[in-house]
Amino acid sequence: MSSHQKWNWMQEELKQLEQKSQLRSLHETTILENGWILRDGKKMLNLASNDYLGLSERLNRSNLTALIEEEERISSSLRFGSTASRLIVGNDPIYRELETEFASFKGTEDSLVFSSGYMANIGVMSTVVGRKDVVFSDRLNHASIVDGIILSRAEHKRFRHRDVEHLEHLLKKADPNRKKLIVTDSIFSMDGSVAPLKQLVELKNKYGAMLMVDEAHSGGIYGEKGQGLVHALGLTDEVDILMGTFSKAYGCYGAYIAGDSVLIQYLMNKARSFIFTTALPPVNIAAIQRNWSRIQAEGWRQKSLLEKSDWFKQQLQSRGFNTGESESQIIPLIVGDNKKTMEFSALLQEKGVAAVAVRPPTVPEGTARIRFTIMSLHQDYDLERALVLIDEIGECLKVKK
Ligand SMILES: Cc1ncc(COP(=O)(O)O)c(C=O)c1O
Repeated sequence: MSSHQKWNWMQEELKQLEQKSQLRSLHETTILENGWILRDGKKMLNLASNDYLGLSERLNRSNLTALIEEEERISSSLRFGSTASRLIVGNDPIYRELETEFASFKGTEDSLVFSSGYMANIGVMSTVVGRKDVVFSDRLNHASIVDGIILSRAEHKRFRHRDVEHLEHLLKKADPNRKKLIVTDSIFSMDGSVAPLKQLVELKNKYGAMLMVDEAHSGGIYGEKGQGLVHALGLTDEVDILMGTFSKAYGCYGAYIAGDSVLIQYLMNKARSFIFTTALPPVNIAAIQRNWSRIQAEGWRQKSLLEKSDWFKQQLQSRGFNTGESESQIIPLIVGDNKKTMEFSALLQEKGVAAVAVRPPTVPEGTARIRFTIMSLHQDYDLERALVLIDEIGECLKVKK
């Protein structure tokens, strides 16, 4: 068998993906100033970034100096590389410093850094529940939560998106003696909708379940200093497992779990995605600390992000587009058909707007969409120009309601 023939089955599957307009590919992208990018050499307005507050800066003398000052402050050497897992010899003092300070910021007893949000979610889910337990998960929760549930081997009960009545129906039917975990995104990554956190707390108390909230898209943005949505709603003490990332509004990389000390100690001992992986480089942690202090000091970033997002969403709606249930900086323009969504995104890119088409299986069948995300750095005139283009293309493809 030639080396080519060996992969015939893969080629066949890739062809099928292409036929369904579901084939993915990588595009070289360079980040420019003020929410612009160079994508495959073409300059575009970036309406597809998770760097909501514009903190993922280009390395320059000033931020490099800030990192060196950080090194002097922490009096340990700031290394660019890692040496081992945290549990072996990779536990640079900077980790515990961040974890302790971050826990008091979030209002929890302790916190633990994971290498990424994906690793945190699979690590926690597969640790706190097991074969005999049951997880109640919003149907639109992030893929990392879904993968974590699969790894845990717990029974997976999916409730309809933000539907607390459906969740209660499922909770009522569950064996009261089984360990139960309710899990939800705080802001849903493909819809921009907000979880009904207060009602979820009521249900978790009523049915004796644990509650885990993923604050990937609300951390750094909501709350007076960016503590997140759970904190803003005064629910910190009611949420058993708080998860969030440093990869979105924080403009860095990495993630955290915040909660009671015993939970953190348990995860440190049991979560395989914490134990069996190399620690993030200390310089990454220093960058998180720097961006985190800017989040607290530069409140104009959050304010500008939320104002621009509201305005952009209203403009889309007033032009007759379906923005679903978005209440945040993530604004979907729901098209429905996969092919039309791809066409929409391709036309936008041709005209200099990067907004990525999101198709099944990332979103449910028949709800393919363009996912717009706003940044606090976007200039009003750039957003206005983008709206004119979106309007023209939407009209041409007959996408409006
Ligand atoms: C809700 C949610 N949780 C978890 C993740 C994973 O985070 P990370 O990109 O840091 O792995 C993401 C982002 O992709 C997300 O949107």
